[in-house]
Amino acid sequence: MRHLMSPLDLSVAELDELLDLASDIEKNPQKYAHACAGKKLATCFYEPSTRTRLSFEAAMLNLGGSVLGFASADSSSAAKGESVSDTIRVISCYADICAMRHPKEGAPLVAAQKSGIPVINAGDGGHQHPTQTLTDLLTIRSLKGRLDHMTIGLCGDLKFGRTVHSLINALIRYPGISFVLISPEELRIPDYIREDVLIKNHIPFREVERLEDAMPELDILYMTRVQRERFFNEEDYIRLKDFYILTRQKLNLAKEDLHVLHPLPRVNEISVEVDDDPRAAYFKQAQYGVYVRMALILTLLEWRD
Ligand code: NCD
Repeated sequence: MRHLMSPLDLSVAELDELLDLASDIEKNPQKYAHACAGKKLATCFYEPSTRTRLSFEAAMLNLGGSVLGFASADSSSAAKGESVSDTIRVISCYADICAMRHPKEGAPLVAAQKSGIPVINAGDGGHQHPTQTLTDLLTIRSLKGRLDHMTIGLCGDLKFGRTVHSLINALIRYPGISFVLISPEELRIPDYIREDVLIKNHIPFREVERLEDAMPELDILYMTRVQRERFFNEEDYIRLKDFYILTRQKLNLAKEDLHVLHPLPRVNEISVEVDDDPRAAYFKQAQYGVYVRMALILTLLEWRD
């Protein structure tokens, strides 16, 4: 039985196969409409979510399966003090696969160790968010036709933004990838990513504070929200929250074939006037999230053509 805790749980070959399956699902949705008939997905979300939870549910429904679950810790027995290990043992009796989001780093891994069904990490604290990464990779590959030889700008809260951590881990496995890490001093990428992932693997990167300085060289710009819920005090959040606002004027500095991604939700970091620019890809990205989660459910349930 396989779980998905980090994008590195899949080899590059498996990842390519999964993305191919997602692209086939996009083209031939009817072929997969009953692939999970009789199967159930449990969504156990101890932290707020719109896209991840609903796209998982949409994915399972599109595959002809059913869904059950809870959308907040207060509405589950966690509010009575139940551990995730006990919860997953019980969920294993009710469902065939589980997507779990939790504010504590490592909680889905703890669950996976006691689970009788595949567990998918749907975001654990400021740590990892592998299914957002699968979504990001499918988006980049669909728009650019490749995942190699690109300069990727990652902008915003690189400290707490788990989507960024997972994306870096996944992209360094492709040749010719370089990064421009754009953040205020206080929200720079954690040392364990800078040292153990980027430097150790000889990945070219530079860290800058001004978005304008990076813009002209980028093939992908990945914007992120300042992660309010992970700050220790509100004052710091207020001071940093509007540090970056992508406007049409700043976008004018970019290449014509740049694509702007954002895992969403957006707060202020992308001005709504940018939404009409053909380079804005973040709503398309949300759609790709459904195809890739369909492909992931099929893969973990070992579906065969
Ligand atoms: C992201 C998350 O939860 O980490 N959202 C998502 O899943 N699309 C990004 C965020 O909340 O800023």
